[in-house]
Amino acid sequence: MKLAILGSGFIARFYADALVGHRRKDEISIVYSRTLANAKKFADDYKVPNFTDSIEECVSHKDVDAVVIALSNDMHLEAVLACAAAGKHPLCTKPLGRNAKEALEMLQAVEKANVTGGYLEDLVYSPKVLKSIAIIKNGSIGEVIWAKSRETHPGPHSDWFWDKEKSGGGAIIDLGCHCVELCRSYIGKNIKPVEVMCWADTRLHPIDAEDNAVGMVKYENGAIGQFEVSWSFRGGMDLRDEVMGTEGTIWINNFLRTGFEMFTTGKSGSYVAEKAESDSGWLFPVGDEVNELGYNHMFTDMFEAIDNKKQPVENFYDGYVVNAILDAAFLSAKTKKWEPVKIEDWRGVAEKKNEKEMTSYDEDYYLIKEETLPSGEKKFILKNKKTGSIEKR
Ligand SMILES: NC(=O)c1ccc[n+]([C@@H]2O[C@H](COP(=O)([O-])OP(=O)(O)OC[C@H]3O[C@@H](n4cnc5c(N)ncnc54)[C@H](O)[C@@H]3O)[C@@H](O)[C@H]2O)c1
Repeated sequence: MKLAILGSGFIARFYADALVGHRRKDEISIVYSRTLANAKKFADDYKVPNFTDSIEECVSHKDVDAVVIALSNDMHLEAVLACAAAGKHPLCTKPLGRNAKEALEMLQAVEKANVTGGYLEDLVYSPKVLKSIAIIKNGSIGEVIWAKSRETHPGPHSDWFWDKEKSGGGAIIDLGCHCVELCRSYIGKNIKPVEVMCWADTRLHPIDAEDNAVGMVKYENGAIGQFEVSWSFRGGMDLRDEVMGTEGTIWINNFLRTGFEMFTTGKSGSYVAEKAESDSGWLFPVGDEVNELGYNHMFTDMFEAIDNKKQPVENFYDGYVVNAILDAAFLSAKTKKWEPVKIEDWRGVAEKKNEKEMTSYDEDYYLIKEETLPSGEKKFILKNKKTGSIEKR
């Protein structure tokens, strides 16, 4: 795959590390940045043969099949439209839009231009999450009835994130987009998200957007996806998920506690891990950040999808659904009510009702709970099917 990269900041470098860090056939042909100096620096660092300060020149370059969009949120729509006009496949970082209206425009543009829109939601491709999704698909934890995803850190690294106009919101749009898509992936992306209840507040920073939020997304089958986000969490970047199924449970810690701990007096002052707040004392590095954050698997899926004319696992439709859920979360935070998720063009299962089958103990009783006591005695809590009375046996 021959690639262009739009942007030369924080995520553009993570992407380039994934793209050129190992021997792969894919090549970055050209990089765009607002200033030629930044574009040249990036090109020098990653041995990219061309650089420019023009988006149009970058996306229409002859040696470009797909364009990795690593620009601030307010530039995603313009960049995607430029790719569609040039007939190139846009692979856009998260969140797809600042709201569902922008995301829908991007989705429609790629479908009209017949190019593949890849949504670069890396955390769904982290090795632990990929494995968890496979575990859920093989039925090991039964039906997922509740999934929780948390992303909290001390706040982003660039000015535009903190400007609501440019970013589209605060911690909800920046971090909630990951959490919402992780929960959708656990619960089942075919199941329709129907309504959202969200608390959000600006607790610490002099900004218009929220720096803390908790939300619940209700799905048509009754499942709940819960997100917890913060830009004021101290102690690094906390990425944790919990999935509760009818037959099992999954707990994931993607970052702060990966089983890798070290102590240093801090004399070297070296980089530890993304958003680490300290470089001395007991620290929690991450073995291979690029891989553990999902970037390698993500690009492999994107390129295979383009080669095989299929949709990647994370595509522009997913980005649009995430934005629609987040729009409802923003509204709910204002109205303090459950707000409907408005998806114009639902492509999942038509209707999945919340109808659970009760487990029978025998002809007359349902089984509520079975437990072995310390004495070894077995205890059964039962419900009479006719009278509804609850009894122990
Ligand atoms: N895990 C992830 O997937 C992840 C992590 C971090 C950031 N991101 C996303 O990546 C995007 C960029 O974030 P970042 O952390 O690299 O930010 P950054 O500030 O480090 O880089 C932003 C880039 O956009 C360019 N830019 C900003 N405003 C522009 C404008 N008006 N016109 C043209 N170019 C402009 C900057 O010059 C820079 O190259 C955002 O959408 C962010 O949400 C994703």
